[in-house]
Amino acid sequence: MTDPSPSLIDRLHEAARAARDHAHAPYSRYKVGAAVMDGDGRIFAGCNMENASFPLGTCAEAVALGAMVAAGGRTCTHVLVIGGTGELTPCGGCRQRIAELCEADCIVYSLAADGSALSEWTMGELLPHAFKLGT
Ligand code: THU
Repeated sequence: MTDPSPSLIDRLHEAARAARDHAHAPYSRYKVGAAVMDGDGRIFAGCNMENASFPLGTCAEAVALGAMVAAGGRTCTHVLVIGGTGELTPCGGCRQRIAELCEADCIVYSLAADGSALSEWTMGELLPHAFKLGT
């Protein structure tokens, strides 16, 4: 799916923005929200959750994907992330997380916190040659 209606982005945006408001980011003070849509059109959101033991912090994408899987979603078709003032692209680890669970034509969107600066990539652009377990 390469040309979704504006309402799809609006719905993902609203879910990600609402989750971002709840981000637990006392150390970086960089709040992130993410929303994923599964194959049934359901939307799941997450925010980053930092920890005083820094490596234990979790990205917003991981939380959103976990909510999808816990609800029975197996694959996502769209991902939207919303961060600060500049462009946010999913970190390398989250690219691998999305690649694990996304459909082949999954689109990733990014917005600044104020809803401006829409960017769009395919997962193939973000993570070419993604690692998959072979046999
Ligand atoms: N962060 C995310 O939630 N997603 C990303 O793709 C990039 C980084 C979070 C992790 C940390 O809580 C904060 O942003 C600063 O790195």
